[in-house]
Amino acid sequence: MAEPSFHAIEWAGDRLRLLDQRLLPGETRYLEYTEAVPVAGAIRDLVVRGAPAIGITAAYAVVLSARQHLGRDADGWQARVAADIDVLAAARPTAVNLVWALEQMRTCMQALPDNPVAALLAEARRIHDEDVAANYCMGASGANLINKGDSVLTHCNAGALATGGYGTALGVIRSAWSAGKLRDVYAGETRPWLQGARLTAWELLADNIPTTLITDSAASFLMQSGKVQWVITGADRVTANGDVINKIGTSQLAVSARYYGVRMMVVAPLSTLDLAVPDGRDVAIECRAEEEILALGGQTVAARGAQAWNPVFDVTPAGLVDYLVTEAGVVAAPDREKLQALVAGASPGCTTA
Ligand code: MRU
Repeated sequence: MAEPSFHAIEWAGDRLRLLDQRLLPGETRYLEYTEAVPVAGAIRDLVVRGAPAIGITAAYAVVLSARQHLGRDADGWQARVAADIDVLAAARPTAVNLVWALEQMRTCMQALPDNPVAALLAEARRIHDEDVAANYCMGASGANLINKGDSVLTHCNAGALATGGYGTALGVIRSAWSAGKLRDVYAGETRPWLQGARLTAWELLADNIPTTLITDSAASFLMQSGKVQWVITGADRVTANGDVINKIGTSQLAVSARYYGVRMMVVAPLSTLDLAVPDGRDVAIECRAEEEILALGGQTVAARGAQAWNPVFDVTPAGLVDYLVTEAGVVAAPDREKLQALVAGASPGCTTA
């Protein structure tokens, strides 16, 4: 598969460039950042989104923070960077990759190298590069599970835009498509922010992968009609018992998939696993503004006076997941014991299925 024609996250020597995902697919515009706190705003406002992508972005923001504060306060720079890390960590609550990446950067900073900025930049680049490598690895493993002629449904955007590159769920779809295995690719539009309609369709079509959009409410009928054999999604967090926290709507896809005999594949790097949290009930689910539901493209569509409830993630019970694909291997029917063994036995690099 050729290199993508875009990068959601770019380091440009002394600044961070983020592709403004709010404007896609209509406009391809990059925003530039030289300080950490505005990057926290970009994460909160969905300039950049997707669990691995916000972790990588935050890692580069720590580099910006060190550059900014080291130049102005040679003695107190570390405390100022630590304060910026706290602001970044609070930008969005659900994806564990954000705090995971910031902890890597904090550990790097505490080692106090001679040139902290160079060391922090090397660490951010490592986090970024390892995410891309994990995606190619998971793409190959996930594609191995798919039979020739299968069709898939994906949800939200778990692609190059949501990661360091290539994508988790879309990495599997890219790999399976280039292996000639896939018949049809369906994408749920993913109300209210339309990650499926705006981002997934844009990404896949850019790679010449034909994509058929459905409304989120058509998913169950799609499965009943026998049109898909797989639901493939990413994850924002996988808890110790294997529960999957992902974009709102994932749980109802998993329920329908089990009912209609469609298999559920979740594709997530080890940085998305959170074995410190026992199960999905303990994860903070982000609720966003009512306006995201009441209006569409800046136009109010709901009846005046209607209220909206806008949780943007949900919890899929582990028992509904057929395969969890990671760079350390594939886990069938994930549970607490299997995840502990996976993490305990994980070695750097790629373990393909
Ligand atoms: O609100 P978003 O767009 O950040 O939600 C993103 C998702 O739910 C993705 O499916 C998830 O982060 C996995 S991305 C590889």
